[in-house]
Amino acid sequence: MCGIVGYVGRNSDGTAQAVIMEGLARLEYRGYDSAGVALVSGEHVEIRKKSGKLSNLRSEIESDPLPPSTAGIGHTRWATHGGPTDANAHPHRGGADGKLALIHNGIIENFHALRTELGAGGVTFTSETDTEVAAHLLAAAYEDHGDLTEAMRAVVVRLEGAYTLLAIHADHPDVVVGARRNSPLVVGLGEEANYLGSDVAAFIGYTRQALELAQDQIVTITAEGVTVINVDGSPAQGRAYEVTWDAAAAEKGGYQTFMEKEINDQPHAVRDTLLGRTDADGRLVLDELRISEASFTGIDRITIVACGTAAYAGMVAKYAIEHWTRIPVEVALAHEFRYCDPIVNERTLVLSISQSGETMDTLMAVKHARDLGALTISVCNTHGSTIPRESDAVLYTHAGPEIAVASTKAFVAQITACYILGLYLAQLRGGSFADDAQSVMKDLGEVPAKIETLLGRMDRVKEIAGFMADTRAVLFLGRHVGYPIALEGALKLKELAYIHAEGFAAGELKHGPIALIEPGQPVFVIVPSPTSEHGLHGKVVSNIQEIRARGARTLVIAEEGDEAVAPFADEVIEVPATAPLLAPLLTVVPLQVFALWLSTAKGLDVDQPRNLAKSVTVE
Ligand code: AGP
Repeated sequence: MCGIVGYVGRNSDGTAQAVIMEGLARLEYRGYDSAGVALVSGEHVEIRKKSGKLSNLRSEIESDPLPPSTAGIGHTRWATHGGPTDANAHPHRGGADGKLALIHNGIIENFHALRTELGAGGVTFTSETDTEVAAHLLAAAYEDHGDLTEAMRAVVVRLEGAYTLLAIHADHPDVVVGARRNSPLVVGLGEEANYLGSDVAAFIGYTRQALELAQDQIVTITAEGVTVINVDGSPAQGRAYEVTWDAAAAEKGGYQTFMEKEINDQPHAVRDTLLGRTDADGRLVLDELRISEASFTGIDRITIVACGTAAYAGMVAKYAIEHWTRIPVEVALAHEFRYCDPIVNERTLVLSISQSGETMDTLMAVKHARDLGALTISVCNTHGSTIPRESDAVLYTHAGPEIAVASTKAFVAQITACYILGLYLAQLRGGSFADDAQSVMKDLGEVPAKIETLLGRMDRVKEIAGFMADTRAVLFLGRHVGYPIALEGALKLKELAYIHAEGFAAGELKHGPIALIEPGQPVFVIVPSPTSEHGLHGKVVSNIQEIRARGARTLVIAEEGDEAVAPFADEVIEVPATAPLLAPLLTVVPLQVFALWLSTAKGLDVDQPRNLAKSVTVE
């Protein structure tokens, strides 16, 4: 997500600006759509900020130079609340005296209520952001406490959601204060200077001595030292460590590739996509769609349009949305949709799914759907992109920028967003699943930790990939919500390892594909939970027997504790148990990891596979 840099040093020369701008440059890889810097200068804080790339901010500073300073903060923004505009760029001022500036990474779930409270108190806002709300709260708290650290402590206890905050105040030209919850913040320990960053890439050019902060901690840095406290005010110690990564590795968070980093980001991607979409009672709240409930209750058909991995997310969503809402859901490849004379009218909801928001095939499908009178909603990961602009509404995923061409964290975030929309529709329409919505959201809330657990068990998958480097073809079988995951597993292998891979509905095996089975043929099988109501577990186990009897090498993905598969599996990859409809968020992970390490074993470019682009902006 956003890039954050903080600096305090002894010399009031151009060092602060130089350090912050270099740090922001090293954080560019995170993806962003605006940038800004604030420096303490005399009686106030100087801010320069611009939408677009860092070059725009540099031009702004050249035309309107910043003063020398000893303390400052810098930010690259990946838009969540409010589009990528100059006004929404960070830093944001708090209070009316121009003395305080704040930057933020994350999502403040309760910012609407806080904004209303501040507005009622006479505060006027210059942006649409949740960050500006926090800045004004901090300024008010500073008026009460006269101390920036204490003011920060008073504010963070009022915030719900995920945040990394950094603040400076003109009354304290030698201090930067930071706080974190469910969002990264790391301290860099220098000589007569100290640093803060959303990751070590922010300051790795200056120091490799770092301090890791725990949840709900507040850090105050000066040129001489670093103080850490807990949110209750008690003293705390960060965990000191030395950064062994080089600058390039630091950009990937210590992972070898962006894809490996993004696979490991998936718990955050799901967690952040869920943030702020339920009220205190656990009911779904999607005011961000700005669509009347009446518009939704008139829907009698849903068509999902997308391409590639996004289309597979839509196929997973079909099973869930139909089950919860009893509305028929069709998944159409966007590039086919326009030419199949689709049955679409004003009672049709056309849901587009796109990480980039720029896929031309999907964009043209959305435009066609609007021409036919459909209600169009986009599930998208990129604020300010074209497809949301062309849609009646957008439900943003909060996976953060996805750099690797092969989509991973955006995929699980897309599925999560579609689940949220489906449950919201069920809640609106009443009926038997309206009450279930809250319990399913509770199950969904437990998935990030389960993905985390699963990611800790991938050594064997990595090993299997290593000795399968010469494999020439791999098949994938799945059933029900496992079928789109079989397709996605095959696509990952095609695009990353350049080998033939094909996904099938397991029930289709006997209707032809079983002819492909020969001794040694590797086949991944995604097995439904034994607790699935549809009773498909036994049928898929039979499928495994059928292919094993013909010599297949069976690599079985099954729910932990599923003893039925063991006799027929050459490898069992266990995933934590979860509600059957939510299982794709877990069963896809081993397939992503397998493709990653098989590609690596073949010495291929994992992040930029041949012939592929991250966003296909041509038809
Ligand atoms: C998936 O790994 C590929 N990068 C590709 O299939 C991608 O999902 C597809 O091109 C759609 O892109 P979008 O989500 O940006 O619209």
